[in-house]
Amino acid sequence: MNYQELIDLANEAKKHSYCPYSKFSVGVALLTKSGKVYLGANIENSSYGATICAERVACVKAIYDGEKELSAIALACNEDVVCYPCGICRQFLSEFGNIDVVLSKNGILVDVVKLFDLLPHPFELN
Ligand code: THU
Repeated sequence: MNYQELIDLANEAKKHSYCPYSKFSVGVALLTKSGKVYLGANIENSSYGATICAERVACVKAIYDGEKELSAIALACNEDVVCYPCGICRQFLSEFGNIDVVLSKNGILVDVVKLFDLLPHPFELN
């Protein structure tokens, strides 16, 4: 699975977005070290704070499945926008290591950054 293929899957996942309020669709494809891919899309709620981002949808699916060794996450969103993970999602993903974050625009890879470069000092217990 190369990163352009992961972006293609993120764009498929984006079609599952439920975003009647923001009209901003986000799709992700999360690659595990074992080679599995988990898809996620943002799911909004009329109580806006209850909205769940695409990244956390995919991450909880992977963890529930016992796949805690993560490798990369590709993001896709509305046209002409490069979507970075929000702060909550950076923290949430940081629990599972310094994964590659694959950024795209209009279906094309634009950059690959390390999660800990986006979130240099994640919160940790201890
Ligand atoms: N959103 C995500 O799915 N991931 C992010 O990292 C940032 C924001 C969603 C949440 C909401 O449904 C919409 O984008 C607008 O904020």
